[in-house]
Amino acid sequence: MTSTNNVQSLETTLPYDNYVSKEIYNKEMKAIFSKNWILVGHTSQLANIGDFFTLELAGEPIIITHAKDGNIHALYNICPHRGTRIETSEKGKKKILQCSYHGWTFHLDGKVHRTPNFDTKDLGEFSCMRSIQLAIRNSMIFVNLDPDAKAFDEEYATFLQDIGQYDFLDSLILCRENQRVVEANWKAVVDNYLECDHCPIAHPGFSRTFDLSNYSIVPSDNYSYQCSTVRNKEESDGARFYWVWPNMMVSIYPGNGNMTTTQLYPLDEERTLAVYRYYFANTELTEEQEELIKFVDQVREEDFGLVELLQKGFHSKAFGRGIYSPTEQGLQYFHQLIGKAMNE
Ligand code: FES
Ligand SMILES: [Fe+2]
Repeated sequence: MTSTNNVQSLETTLPYDNYVSKEIYNKEMKAIFSKNWILVGHTSQLANIGDFFTLELAGEPIIITHAKDGNIHALYNICPHRGTRIETSEKGKKKILQCSYHGWTFHLDGKVHRTPNFDTKDLGEFSCMRSIQLAIRNSMIFVNLDPDAKAFDEEYATFLQDIGQYDFLDSLILCRENQRVVEANWKAVVDNYLECDHCPIAHPGFSRTFDLSNYSIVPSDNYSYQCSTVRNKEESDGARFYWVWPNMMVSIYPGNGNMTTTQLYPLDEERTLAVYRYYFANTELTEEQEELIKFVDQVREEDFGLVELLQKGFHSKAFGRGIYSPTEQGLQYFHQLIGKAMNE
């Protein structure tokens, strides 16, 4: 092993303990996932009154519904009678939600409908499912478990302005969805997304398609983006890969209006559920769109393989931190935001 004189000037990453510690994970669920705006879905998943989907965020069961009032609601999927989880399916369409314990029923806006053995009028705070802060922007649905959180538009003003350049976003519908449990800490998956130093080695297909000599990573305000152009094509054929604090990734590829998102739901300190979704303006996908999905899936699988190897290394006694290269400013910014959130 050789040593250099300028080792002192190298900037080091977050300690690797942070990627294997149960205690830090639990703190992140409180300090990050219970206090920030998290992407949970898209309005095209709730096109009709009665549509709903459920998920778990920071250990909380959540249901997102399209109620009779025409609005989309975010609710804790918990019965106010005694706390049973109400809806057990991942998605569906219902007129009424029913708790399987004592049979209380609820409208899709969370208000109680029938309560056997109780006078529904006298239930006070027990008369509805608890609601959660919700924001819908560019047809993407975000929730925030913190009732006192800063408004979405305030937190992400610059991101909204930036992504606003794509005027087709509201016309897109969810066309394909894949899920995969990645055997790695959620931060390792984000870290991997935020740099492209690994692209020439790990992503041969991606590197053939995009001009890596024309690749920028720009940290901004609670988000960052990476952009590049397709080799041998005009300037306008660019792609933009957004990362939005803390765990959302949105990519826009060249060609007809499209969007792919990745939502990362930490399952524990060493496992993350990655939900990736593909949006286009048409439901019958063209060959070109199928090709794009294949291309994105391939890059993702390459990445997931790498982060799973990385997670194994986090346990090693060999060393406790990594170092940043000069083109990993996106990664550095993510780690700064983690530090800030965890110290507040
Ligand atoms: S816990 Fe839901 S009806 Fe009793
Ligand atoms: Fe990658």
